[in-house]
Amino acid sequence: MARRLATALTSTDPRVAAGRSPSPWWQTAVVYQVYLRSFADSNGDGIGDLAGLRSRLPYLAWLGVDALWINPHYPSGGADGGYDIVDYRAVDPDYGDVADLEGLVKDARRLGLRVVLDVVPNHTSDRHPWFSAAVADPDSPEAARYHFAPPSEEPPNNWQSLFGGPAWSRTADGRWYLHLFSPEQPDLNWREPAVAADFERTLRFWLDRGVSGFRVDVAYGLFKDAALRDNPGSYAPTLFGHGPEQAMTWNQPEVHDVWRRWRAVCDEYPDTMLVGEVCLADLEQVALYSRPDEMHQSLSFRLLKSPWATEPFAEAVQSALDAFGGVGAPVSWVLGNHDKERQVTRFGGGAVGTARARAAALLMLALPGSAYVYAGDELGLPQAAVPDEAKLDPIFFRSGGARVGRDGCRVPMPWNDSDGVGFSPEGAAPAWLPIPADWQQYAVSRQTRDGGSTLTLYRRALALRAAHPALAAGDATVSTRGDVLTVRCVGESETVRCLVNMGAETVLVGCSGSVLLTSTVSVRHSAGSVALPPNSAVWVVED
Ligand code: NOJ
Ligand code: CA
Repeated sequence: MARRLATALTSTDPRVAAGRSPSPWWQTAVVYQVYLRSFADSNGDGIGDLAGLRSRLPYLAWLGVDALWINPHYPSGGADGGYDIVDYRAVDPDYGDVADLEGLVKDARRLGLRVVLDVVPNHTSDRHPWFSAAVADPDSPEAARYHFAPPSEEPPNNWQSLFGGPAWSRTADGRWYLHLFSPEQPDLNWREPAVAADFERTLRFWLDRGVSGFRVDVAYGLFKDAALRDNPGSYAPTLFGHGPEQAMTWNQPEVHDVWRRWRAVCDEYPDTMLVGEVCLADLEQVALYSRPDEMHQSLSFRLLKSPWATEPFAEAVQSALDAFGGVGAPVSWVLGNHDKERQVTRFGGGAVGTARARAAALLMLALPGSAYVYAGDELGLPQAAVPDEAKLDPIFFRSGGARVGRDGCRVPMPWNDSDGVGFSPEGAAPAWLPIPADWQQYAVSRQTRDGGSTLTLYRRALALRAAHPALAAGDATVSTRGDVLTVRCVGESETVRCLVNMGAETVLVGCSGSVLLTSTVSVRHSAGSVALPPNSAVWVVED
């Protein structure tokens, strides 16, 4: 596992002997996204927690990932899945306490895993003490840390909330305040120095506890147009990809200085990193957030949004390689997360959706850069049908039910065959989101015994990715021919080809070499060619 050891530098490391320093771990890392509330419940309250996650670390080490990113673990108002934070330097009692987090980091280290936290600098909870003080007194220093406007008939501008409705709500005394997400998430005013100072304290608080960095929420936000002018266009209801129609709200040039300051803080802590959530339509603008003195990476959501066809996939890969290559940053590939419908469902559901998700995983894990795997995607979980009365996502409520919301990709992990699928101990309270009746079929315990399972495929792929540096650390070229997408990954000592058949017919591809891994057993290979069934992928080491 060469990459796992990248920072455990010793004089026996061949790269040191050759006078080269190894690449930083994050450049090619597989980062596993833990939806903490749904991962493992240790105390039977139906809510996943840090002790539960800690007890499952051996699973993550066995799977072969390099790091975990944990969705927000902070005390929260509970209005948006933890993205409305009340105290940035504490742990929500639902999840444990700071000592639990320190214990998690220590245990993870012992297993060769790094822990990355989520940090949310664009907005706080409306229950954050700053906002309470700001509401109580318009002249308080805290009021200057948010965007308030005096009482008036109409809101101060035409901005819309991403979750639906206007981006302005009123306090009891009639003042307006800005919230680009739900009203319980007031936006911070980053033109106020106290805000920046407090976040730097927060970064250091967690870095001092041994974490390896942060996933930065809404990193393209923070600063707004200084005069809060109207946007030229109206907001299209998607979570990703804002363009010029939203020019006053997002991507203000001043925000890059925040990342320069945060980078300087991280530089004081060896081997730490920042990965930004930057949802802008223009990928070259996204890449600017990962210039050498800013964040180390920005998540690339193109694969996450591409329909199952060669041209959009090839475009997704090439445009990301070009844009991030242009600033010298590795691409951070994402196929699934807690905001998007599960891949299996997005790619058509059932056997077809599963086959496509498996093939897409081999594609992502071959590409140069780091890869983000969302908990449960390694089990091939489909989107769960969450009944409306159990839903919690503000997107569902604020759209009056017109948008289904994100609860269906956030339901608890199935660990075993028992009724509660091993998420909680026996006799526990019901899980915080209902667990689908057929969830046992996806359980970790079943899939570890099954050589053809999606879990087994991920585990093999991760082991091979670590053993073959052409994957993840090679130079990739992308091409399409008919329904076949090819990524050729050229490493120092070998070349690995990833072929994906995205069409409806089996395709015979001329390709000599030895097969490393196939996404389905029905791939046939003989000297000089591979017969790829529909919706399948193969890794071949070229002769
Ligand atoms: C992006 C997060 O991924 C999403 O879950 C959250 O609702 C918004 N940022 C607001 O913090
Ligand atoms: Ca619990």
